[in-house]
Amino acid sequence: TVEDGVRVFELTAAAGSTGIVPEGQTPTLGYNGSYLGPTLVAERGEIVRVDVDNQLPDTTTVHWHGMHLPAAMDGGPHNPIAPGETWSPEWMVDQPAATLWYHPHLHGITREQVDAGLAGMFLVRDDVEASLPLPHEYGVDDIPVIVQDRSFDAEGAFTGELGQFDGVLGDTILVNGTASPYLDVTTERVRLRLLNGSSARMYEFAFDDGRPFDLIATDGGLLEAPVESESIPLSPGERAEIVVTMSPGERAVLRSLAPDADLNAGSSSFDVMELRAASALDPSLELPERLADIPEPDASTADGERTFELSGHNINDRQMDMGRVDEVVTVDTSEVWRVRNDNPLPHSFHVHDTQFRVLSIDGQAPPARLAGYKDTIALEWNREYRLLVRFEDYADPTTPYMYHCHLLWHEDQGMMGQFLVV
Ligand code: C2O
Ligand code: CU
Ligand code: CU
Repeated sequence: TVEDGVRVFELTAAAGSTGIVPEGQTPTLGYNGSYLGPTLVAERGEIVRVDVDNQLPDTTTVHWHGMHLPAAMDGGPHNPIAPGETWSPEWMVDQPAATLWYHPHLHGITREQVDAGLAGMFLVRDDVEASLPLPHEYGVDDIPVIVQDRSFDAEGAFTGELGQFDGVLGDTILVNGTASPYLDVTTERVRLRLLNGSSARMYEFAFDDGRPFDLIATDGGLLEAPVESESIPLSPGERAEIVVTMSPGERAVLRSLAPDADLNAGSSSFDVMELRAASALDPSLELPERLADIPEPDASTADGERTFELSGHNINDRQMDMGRVDEVVTVDTSEVWRVRNDNPLPHSFHVHDTQFRVLSIDGQAPPARLAGYKDTIALEWNREYRLLVRFEDYADPTTPYMYHCHLLWHEDQGMMGQFLVV
């Protein structure tokens, strides 16, 4: 609803249960329902408010992952919502059209709450994206695809052991909370908004028949041009929008090829979702040759440089301390952040509030799939990622934003730091 020029959303977090597997009902957490939450959609330039009502027995927070907004609205560990309380952050959406998402961020129990079902998508739309000949019809040819891995016990409850290094890896893939999912395709082209909503598993999405698809957007929005691809890797928290072309009556299976079997326990390749095309498909427009103006990232605009070494469950040899500010940056400046994963273990790097650009990986220009706006990036072992990070608009001398590994168990273990924008 829109009240006095403010678009208002309501989210109620509560415990429930739902049938996911034949073994029985699964006790879950969800927003406005038993598992996951509604897709929130806002236009660039709109002021939004979300009334988050916590009906859980525990404290929670809701973080708007990928959103540019004031630190006090960010929903990190400093914005707890006690049981029975409502939190109403309000901000202006001012960033390019993108697939963002929301999830809890209470320090130490983020993995537990996300894995129980607290997550949802937040789509930003804008005029640039709306004017392009892309599939736009939500639920018809523009489809949210939240991919999670879970395990179930004999009664249907979620189960899973915390692994030594990664956290919990499940043996059952869910898409939008559904096991063995399929999608009835009614148009020639379908746009899949892929979100790796898993807490630890890395995916390499590809089709079973090797068919190419077009990668059109990553975390922070559209790429400069569609990138024809046969696979796309996504670490926890990352998003990719792909457009796949189908022929009448055919079936195609979206699969995951494990990026590196040693770093991800479990089977090396598995089905994610089947696409089932109708015997007659509505025509779709040709994809445009250009999507958006993405300026070349220019490191000479940076005011400073910082280094982040991820090792074990530490960043720069430290663990998260809610009472310690690790970095202080200046509003309306850019910096080069040099990030390195010192372990042969899977880690990623996520920065709140901002969409960064990848300047280089070990001195080389990034691949096309990493050339757009990003807020989360998988870190291959022992490579130097140089990121151009911009901090705009919102200064706050007291409330920090977070940067962290987005493998949620690592984050919970303290692989996170805090920065102030002043
Ligand atoms: Cu998606 Cu700090 O999180
Ligand atoms: Cu975030
Ligand atoms: Cu990690």
